[in-house]
Amino acid sequence: MQFDSLDFYREHAQRYSQLSHEYTHSVYNGASHPALNGDMDMLTRAVELAAGKRGLDAGCGAGARDVYQLFTWGYDAYGVDAVEENIILGKELHPEIADKLSVADMREPLAFETGFFDLVLCNAVIQHMTPETAEATTIPELARVLAPGGVLQLMFKTGTGVATVSDQAYGAGGVDRSFQLYDERRLLRILEDCGCSLVEAGESGDLGGMLYFNDPKPMRYCAFWVRKN
Ligand SMILES: C[S@@+](CC[C@H](N)C(=O)[O-])C[C@H]1O[C@@H](n2cnc3c(N)ncnc32)[C@H](O)[C@@H]1O
Repeated sequence: MQFDSLDFYREHAQRYSQLSHEYTHSVYNGASHPALNGDMDMLTRAVELAAGKRGLDAGCGAGARDVYQLFTWGYDAYGVDAVEENIILGKELHPEIADKLSVADMREPLAFETGFFDLVLCNAVIQHMTPETAEATTIPELARVLAPGGVLQLMFKTGTGVATVSDQAYGAGGVDRSFQLYDERRLLRILEDCGCSLVEAGESGDLGGMLYFNDPKPMRYCAFWVRKN
């Protein structure tokens, strides 16, 4: 079985952007940590962890919501996505960051200097590529563009193989979608080989370590932060 092509995002850019900006599909269920209720909890913790204010949302999605959110928090925020429609919509919705949004296929090396970013987000993107590509190119590239002390937030669907689920958010009766699943321990080992270390949970209950939750479809996710040594 193969995961979906990027055509889904080309066809549904407007709808994806609408859901994203409403945060209606950014709420988590069955989370492994009591303070983890949705995307905003991840983003606010990521910003707490990052020492500087230059950020990249790698695979920013239609409308570039989180790039704009970082911008409103004083970040020099960039976004890339493989789908041109997603980037065009981001520029239309958020002209303030238009010059920071660009089309890029993360199956290829990123066009940023080594050590350029204090914070890199990569949320629900590697599910659309083969593990071979993610492991050989995408993940090492995310680590490469991090500055020493910089933080990567990696969020992905957890498990093995490819899973298909009916997504009720798109059209009557739902749309079948297929996603590549990943083993979190394997991804962490690859990042460790790239000079990164897991951000452990804080003693006062701050988010960290391996975090798990379900999205509304529902699909099980894992998310964690690593810091570049
Ligand atoms: C589920 S969406 C996630 C968007 C955003 N990160 C978020 O959390 O809302 C997946 C995004 O990854 C992008 N994407 C998939 N494969 C990609 C690739 N090879 N390079 C860059 N972006 C890619 C898609 O176009 C889509 O916008």
